[in-house]
Amino acid sequence: MSATLAPSWQVCATCGHEIPETDPHPRCPRPGCGGLLEVHHRPPPQGGHALRATFDARRGVWRGVLASGVWRFREAVLPSAGDDVLTYPEGNTPLLASPPVAQWAGSPGLLLKHEGHNPTGSFKDRGMTVGVTQARRIGARAVSCASTGNTAASLAAYAALAGLPALVLIPKDQVAAGKLGQALAYGARTLLVRGNFDDCLTLAAEASERLGVYLLNSINPFRLEGQKTIVLELLQQLSWDPPDWIVVPAGNLGNTAAFGKALEEARAWGLIDRVPRLAAVQAEGAAPFALSFRSGFTRRDRVTPHTVATAINIGNPVSHDRAVRAIRETNGVVTVVSDDDILDAKAVVDGAGIGCEPASAAAVAGVRRLMNEGVIRKGDRVVAVLTGHLLKDPGTGGANRPVEIDANLAEVERVMRG
Ligand code: F0G
Repeated sequence: MSATLAPSWQVCATCGHEIPETDPHPRCPRPGCGGLLEVHHRPPPQGGHALRATFDARRGVWRGVLASGVWRFREAVLPSAGDDVLTYPEGNTPLLASPPVAQWAGSPGLLLKHEGHNPTGSFKDRGMTVGVTQARRIGARAVSCASTGNTAASLAAYAALAGLPALVLIPKDQVAAGKLGQALAYGARTLLVRGNFDDCLTLAAEASERLGVYLLNSINPFRLEGQKTIVLELLQQLSWDPPDWIVVPAGNLGNTAAFGKALEEARAWGLIDRVPRLAAVQAEGAAPFALSFRSGFTRRDRVTPHTVATAINIGNPVSHDRAVRAIRETNGVVTVVSDDDILDAKAVVDGAGIGCEPASAAAVAGVRRLMNEGVIRKGDRVVAVLTGHLLKDPGTGGANRPVEIDANLAEVERVMRG
């Protein structure tokens, strides 16, 4: 139906039911279904070469919607949003080479896509610019989410930009200080839930339905359209010559799903002629997706999560099915790293002057593990995604301590002499 007219529409990933792009349901509205929705776009009329040229020409734009590293790719994100877009702007994050990190990981071709350089310090801004834009398009009166912290910070900021009230539910005592501080400062109504993230998500979904609030967790398919641009932007930074691997930390599996969709579309639309393999990395204590992978995805596992990387402390990832497809279609892998590995990797990334939060370091630890196992090979070109900024969680990890002194030179000399 809508497929024949509109540039974009929503499709239920479970039953195939189609609904218009501006339908506000968070899940498939067909009675008894409730499956996750996906946004489908009609392929742009330009061929791959011309579309690449369009995206590349926009890299020089400094102002307005196209200055965003999300909306530069608007044909792949939400073509019909027109100029009715709420953008900070976001994206345009660096792709970094770091010899010490590459050496530690044992991967000479490693590059780091640092999503901590987004306006609120995590990749979530790429999804939120699209999610809150969509909230305005459908006339939402308020927006909400459950979060391990970064989604809450991002939602709070973009809701403030839009002038919309925001409600965030976060697990008490399981969210890094920087993130909670952001949600409060940007003015979100912030609920500390006595439970874990998975409890928060169930509650947020129920509350949003009851209160008529637009839910902006990554079950929201428009969020994922924005997060696809992490992949599109890194491909563009590599002059559309794809790496062999893209490695990403995995919690609720929104990114894993978004990356798979981005790569599928990039190939179908002729932007790339070869699809990189995806590697999703989970913390050992919160690894339901890795468990499922080991069973050949014959089971959907759920666990009670516990990891130092609070951002990915998730036991029942909502985008499981979409992420299975992403791993299958990219010939990808799922692996786990221990909390010690995560903290070691973080110390190396921090010590290299780059810095990231613990969940992000899981990607680098994952590269090291996959190199050691020979899954990623020495000559492979690898991009690991650093999902959040060091300042999000300054309290975790690091042996370096400040030394307190009296205010005189002799004291400085004493300390410097060791
Ligand atoms: N890295 C960081 C820094 C995150 O904040 C998250 C998720 C992930 C990785 C995992 O991404 O869920 O797409 O697999 N944070 C969510 C939040 C859950 O509420 O901020 P995912």
